[in-house]
Amino acid sequence: MRRIERRLRLATGLIVACFIVGHFLNHSLGVVSIDAMDRVREVLAAWWRSAPGTVLLYGALLTHFALALVSLYRRTTLRMPFWEAAQLVLGLLVPPLLIGHVVGSRFAWYLLGHNVNYERVVGVLWSDPTAAIRQSILLLIVWCHFCIGIHYWLRVQRWYPAAQPLVFATALLVPALALAGFAAAGNELWPVVERVGGIQKYNVDLANQTPDERARLTALRSGLELAFWSLLGATLLARWLRTRLGGTYQLRHSSGRVITAPMGRSILEALRDEGVPHASVCGGRARCTTCRVRISDGLAALPAPDRNEALALARVDAPPNVRLACQTHPRNDVTVIPLLPPDVNAATARRPGAARERERPIVSMFVDLRGSTRIAESRLPYDVVFIMNQFFAEMYEALRMTNGYYAQFRGDGLLALYGLESDLADACRQAMRGAAEMQRRVELLSKSLAADLAEPLRIGIGAHAGVAIIGTMGPPEAPIYSAIGDNVNIAARFEGMTKAYACGMVVSADTLQQAGLEPRGATLHRVRVRGRTERLDVYAVNDPRDLFNSVPGT
Ligand code: FES
Repeated sequence: MRRIERRLRLATGLIVACFIVGHFLNHSLGVVSIDAMDRVREVLAAWWRSAPGTVLLYGALLTHFALALVSLYRRTTLRMPFWEAAQLVLGLLVPPLLIGHVVGSRFAWYLLGHNVNYERVVGVLWSDPTAAIRQSILLLIVWCHFCIGIHYWLRVQRWYPAAQPLVFATALLVPALALAGFAAAGNELWPVVERVGGIQKYNVDLANQTPDERARLTALRSGLELAFWSLLGATLLARWLRTRLGGTYQLRHSSGRVITAPMGRSILEALRDEGVPHASVCGGRARCTTCRVRISDGLAALPAPDRNEALALARVDAPPNVRLACQTHPRNDVTVIPLLPPDVNAATARRPGAARERERPIVSMFVDLRGSTRIAESRLPYDVVFIMNQFFAEMYEALRMTNGYYAQFRGDGLLALYGLESDLADACRQAMRGAAEMQRRVELLSKSLAADLAEPLRIGIGAHAGVAIIGTMGPPEAPIYSAIGDNVNIAARFEGMTKAYACGMVVSADTLQQAGLEPRGATLHRVRVRGRTERLDVYAVNDPRDLFNSVPGT
């Protein structure tokens, strides 16, 4: 049901948006002439005033408004992020500001047969500075409401960040042009107004309404305004009664907070009520899954996920004890652990490590900058930080180029993961390319910093493929996406062995074989690692680039 509601809200919003964009662009033609505005208006009106156009537009408007009231009724708290509150308030401001305009134009045409053209509307508005300002504010309110809706609809899309500059420019340009057109039309009209003896007379002449007609329109306007305020008041009252008459449940948060929330309140709403930061990129619409929590206690008593939530959870392959905080309305006490940091964005939420906790075969790769202690001893702190940042930037770039994931760094090294999205054979090959690329970049960096270094920069790499547990880990305030497990520890030990073997990389023979690479220039060793009874075959590789015929990236 809620899925249908959401789709309906989106569809009706888009229909109204089509009308708004056309209408505003029509306004902008005022910079050309009032005549040009009217010619385009007639074309648009031919559709929007036709029977199907009328049903579509007014049906969409009424449905959109009704859905807003339903969602307001359902809200168990009015605490919400700023943008959500802004969209709600702006949306609710539209009807009282718009009713007069619609009655004076559309209803005057429909009920009285008066064709209200741009000359008439601009004349009326310019005759009263308050009305002109109010109309301009209405235009901006409608546009901001529309833009917020579009932004939060699109921001979970992968392509959206790239398109954002264009979308932003359009969002600024359309209302600016509409207002410019409105101002220019008023300017064009003014000499005519002065010739006929002032704006009041001009308006009376132009309106051509009998007192009875004017009374009918005024009564209609008052009736619509009363209906709006009554519906809004009734919704708020019903909501208040609903939130007061239910029982409560206790929400235990992994931070130690225990929150008592009224029945019917979602986990997300309960957290917001108490000011506990929690991720909610899509604003509670079951689209982004960033609000997901692990239910560590009280899972059995929770209502089953509805279709919407189930689909969203299936998308991220969530285990059964994970639920969306925005869609879960507990009726019993629950204990939750957030799975993503409160400030996560849509892109981060889509990252493989953030998608779910799971076991999967990956390549773990530890990279260590050799001699960092000596660098720290011989340089000023500022220089050390500069060198380290350059080093990490290069390592990050090497990972980015080879589909590696930068899991964590530790002072002078980092843990990289390969295979979060690809199969193990690809992951092994990508990891070896990544190692070669790192080696190449460290050499270049070393050359560029030669004047500041007592000796060239060198790295040691340990790489091993095997099943690991990956997911969000760490304290609630600063979780990271990382990997743990026996195979990750083995990679760390291999990195330590690079010193003993005086080589650039130690990699398990199995990893090289899966990558389909010959151990060129490498020496085979059979090693014992802590936690394993059997010995492992490893290759000590002087330079990972030797594994390839050509240097990657060149
Ligand atoms: S806030 Fe986006 S799915 Fe819950």
